[in-house]
Amino acid sequence: MPYGGRVDTEPELADEFDRAAGRYDLLTALNPGYHRHLAEAASALADRLDRDAPCLLDLGCGSGSSTAALLRALPGASVVGVDASVGMLARAAGKAWPDGVRFVQASAEALPELRLGPVDGILAAYLFRNVPDRDRDRVARSALCQLRPGGWLVVQEYSVAGRRLAGLVWTLVCWLVVIPLAALVGGHPGLYVYLWRSVRDFDATERFARRLAEAGFVDIARQDVQGWQRGILHTFRARRPYAPEESRPCPAE
Ligand SMILES: C[S@@+](CC[C@H](N)C(=O)[O-])C[C@H]1O[C@@H](n2cnc3c(N)ncnc32)[C@H](O)[C@@H]1O
Repeated sequence: MPYGGRVDTEPELADEFDRAAGRYDLLTALNPGYHRHLAEAASALADRLDRDAPCLLDLGCGSGSSTAALLRALPGASVVGVDASVGMLARAAGKAWPDGVRFVQASAEALPELRLGPVDGILAAYLFRNVPDRDRDRVARSALCQLRPGGWLVVQEYSVAGRRLAGLVWTLVCWLVVIPLAALVGGHPGLYVYLWRSVRDFDATERFARRLAEAGFVDIARQDVQGWQRGILHTFRARRPYAPEESRPCPAE
């Protein structure tokens, strides 16, 4: 994809992440707060689970930063990381992991066929914005169906729709800092142009919370981070109801 070109399909996006994988960890290391925010999201999940050794899914695990955050918050956890990008998964798989961690190359849209559940918790850090709008409700619903009753989903995602100041800050930071920095370190700036656009185009926070409710989640709450990303980066949490009669039955239950 040329610098500034468009990513319109999921395979194109996976290719784009493949190409950027080599510099991905470097660029996230240069992003102040990236790992702290992942740690906060992982803690938001850990705080709600009542087992010492829970089974977890890391949806859109990328190069494994979110997987590592989960293990720091829940050292006894088993984690399956799922990601569509072969390149990002190769980065993840190349790191040292305890037993009980494995990675699966698949798109989130294929979750029902993977039969990875039931799990106690799911983290989806920076995934949902990348799922095409037409598939987002279906992915939210399949996430619910992978959870055991009472299990929790935590979503960390950028959203600026309906917030003018947040949108302006986001555009300035992307075009003055993030995209030039990606070009400087050979980090495939096209992906970061896509990052800018995908955040600008993603659901408003209220819309995303509504999707979770329509998928059958309850106890939905949102927390915003502090600092310059306030109003831009959000952590949602949502629970699968305990009683099956509280929500539509999932397939094969
Ligand atoms: C911004 S990275 C985040 C990675 C990791 N969660 C983290 O926090 O560092 C987003 C990841 O989602 C993956 N992704 C995007 N769309 C996807 C989809 N539809 N299904 C599965 N993975 C997807 C990309 O390949 C990429 O590795």
